[in-house]
Amino acid sequence: MNAPVIEIRDLHKSYGDLEVLKGVDVTAPAGHVVSLIGSSGSGKSTLLRCANLLEDSQQGDVLFCGEPVIWKGTGQSRHPGDHAQMIRIRTNLSMVFQQFNLWAHMTILQNVMEAPVTVLKRDKAEVEEKARAYLAKVGIGDKCDVYPAQLSGGQQQRAAIARALCMEPRALLFDEPTSALDPELEQEVVKVIKDLATEGRTMIIVTHDMRLAADVSDHVIFLHQGKIEEEGAPDVLFNHPKTDRLRGFLSATQ
Ligand SMILES: Nc1ncnc2c1ncn2[C@@H]1O[C@H](COP(=O)(O)OP(=O)(O)OP(=O)(O)O)[C@@H](O)[C@H]1O
Ligand SMILES: [Mg+2]
Repeated sequence: MNAPVIEIRDLHKSYGDLEVLKGVDVTAPAGHVVSLIGSSGSGKSTLLRCANLLEDSQQGDVLFCGEPVIWKGTGQSRHPGDHAQMIRIRTNLSMVFQQFNLWAHMTILQNVMEAPVTVLKRDKAEVEEKARAYLAKVGIGDKCDVYPAQLSGGQQQRAAIARALCMEPRALLFDEPTSALDPELEQEVVKVIKDLATEGRTMIIVTHDMRLAADVSDHVIFLHQGKIEEEGAPDVLFNHPKTDRLRGFLSATQ
């Protein structure tokens, strides 16, 4: 069997004295969708950022396709020790953020082409062809030459998803991809995420949208104060929560 695309084992992360992740395990096998749910401050974004090495962690392991991250130093001074490995992992785990983070001074097409051309050093003409195809795939193929400010939030987020796809990563990491959107624009983005799940993309999705988590996930993890309080198949977790904390969280998010 192939190694999972992402495997996190017993991860601990502190900001100074504040312990934010207290020994968390997450496995995302190829083709699976894992959703992270939990109240504000439970550590969801931090976990995602530790997975693609945007944040350092102090203890535990991160494995990418079975390959453990090589660390240098210990505790508060621990960081990835192999720069080339770090870049390879980071470029293979593309992030989509709540606030889209598109470059305002670049057209949509330039936004999507930027990292494959400058970071991956791919051929510009080939990248342009792919970028146009990914923009068409997310339904905004006609918006290549406009600037982000000329698009709705839903269109900007779909552009950000096309940008992530154009890196041709092994997995996509979403941090609250629909939270900044009005309900009807949210549905445009939900549809794109559902299509990606149907295609068999490997994804970790942090979301407050329980319906999205229930619909697309193979596995759902409920984080509470930096620990996994409960996890399982979406049907079991949402319909038969075992802990009072998850029951309380779910009733508050209905
Ligand atoms: N750069 C930072 N420096 C110090 N503390 C931080 C930093 N980033 C996050 N934290 C703290 O870590 C904890 C977890 O934050 P995190 O952003 O991971 O939560 P979250 O589950 O994503 O919450 P939300 O649902 O509001 O996005 C919070 O207590 C937060 O204040
Ligand atoms: Mg967050």
